[in-house]
Amino acid sequence: MAEQKQLTIGLFGFGVVGEGIYEVLKNTPSLNARIKKICIKDATKQRNADSTLFTTDYDSILEDPEINLVVELINDPVEALVIVTKALCRKKAVVSANKKMIAENLDEILALQKEYNVPFLYEAAVCGSVPVIRNLEEYYDNDMLKGICGIVNGSTNFILTKILEEGVSYQSALSAAQSCGFAETDPALDVSGRDAVNKLTILLLHAYGIKSYPDHILYRGITAIHYNDALVAREKGQKIKLIARAYKLKNNSIAAYVLPQFVTKESSLYNVKNEFNGVVIESKLADKQFLSGKGAGRYPTSSAVLSDIAALRYSYRYEYRKLVAGTKFSLSTDFYLRVYVSFENWNSVNKWDFESIEEFHSTENRQYLVGLIHFEKLSDSSWFANDEVSVIVQPDGIVEKEELVTRSLKKISLQLAGSV
Ligand SMILES: NC(=O)c1ccc[n+]([C@@H]2O[C@H](COP(=O)([O-])OP(=O)(O)OC[C@H]3O[C@@H](n4cnc5c(N)ncnc54)[C@H](OP(=O)(O)O)[C@@H]3O)[C@@H](O)[C@H]2O)c1
Repeated sequence: MAEQKQLTIGLFGFGVVGEGIYEVLKNTPSLNARIKKICIKDATKQRNADSTLFTTDYDSILEDPEINLVVELINDPVEALVIVTKALCRKKAVVSANKKMIAENLDEILALQKEYNVPFLYEAAVCGSVPVIRNLEEYYDNDMLKGICGIVNGSTNFILTKILEEGVSYQSALSAAQSCGFAETDPALDVSGRDAVNKLTILLLHAYGIKSYPDHILYRGITAIHYNDALVAREKGQKIKLIARAYKLKNNSIAAYVLPQFVTKESSLYNVKNEFNGVVIESKLADKQFLSGKGAGRYPTSSAVLSDIAALRYSYRYEYRKLVAGTKFSLSTDFYLRVYVSFENWNSVNKWDFESIEEFHSTENRQYLVGLIHFEKLSDSSWFANDEVSVIVQPDGIVEKEELVTRSLKKISLQLAGSV
């Protein structure tokens, strides 16, 4: 059996997660891990720990040769990159939960790990307590992975549950998410879908070996979802969830996006409520496998950080096998999506962008259509980003080119909708 390492930790950040991991480590003496110093930003704040532990000087951790592990849990992604870079350069192992910093700097982070040959673990950065990164990294180590479909942002799932299932207002749902410690310091990151796309970027690396950048992946959050959309979902016995999706197309390229989606009762994601996250991993041989757990909050997030710390005692590291070996995958935008689009009047949406329109409903204050649209048309359209227009993917919304019967359907269905 491999020998357990003694870990001497320099902790950056003492907020929701930082203080959580401090408490958890204090109560887990068997782990052989001791916090020697804690770096925070504001020296004047009262802390629930011995004052001699605290510093505002990065170097008192980074230049301390006894500290062999840096746990980075601050809420500033720019400074987090500075800390992680310096720590790796000094050959200290690093654990982080900072998805924004990781997703936006994949190249740099991979290069640093290679150059300095030190482990950098970040299970808490995706789905909080749910061990999805290590699962993808270790278990699905082949070309059998068909897709990933996940609720990866606890804060938006909490807000959607409160609004759509409990009738709470958007503002009070957001305030509740903030006071429970689920929301990011800047909640716009959550509700815009940006946090989810940061996580999808990390998942794409571990699932398919794809190095992408969050800005290159189409995403939309929950701010445009209208109350009428919830009524439509309820009528159909479905729910609306913010979904991060990666799907292997027939030509072996990968479709990826973060968009609201209707979820049916048959889906494992249907009952994923509040701050819970859930990920369905679709594999060719094993069919669908489902992981679920709390995606945010002090102790769930601390549990993932703790698990990384524990793994480092045995010198665990990500091998990034899919990046270095096997089939090379890349992202594709050449597929269709079946979407529901709701809006106040027809001028808000260009109906000619759709390949076909299958449903059309008009009420006094809201109209909606269900149609098939090429993914590129959707992302390039001027109306996609309009907050007056709600776009929700239909269940099993990805349609491959080969599945389209004939393009002439377009004209017929538009005629049926009475718009030509
Ligand atoms: N909260 C969650 O549920 C959750 C879940 C998954 C991942 N995460 C990630 O975990 C990280 C921490 O989140 P959090 O919710 O714990 O944040 P938080 O409660 O806002 O705490 C942030 C901490 O970072 C410290 N800090 C900020 N800038 C610093 C700097 N330049 N140098 C030293 N310390 C600095 C702050 O110091 P002061 O105390 O002096 O202000 C504070 O202690 C973030 O990357 C977040 O995305 C959080």
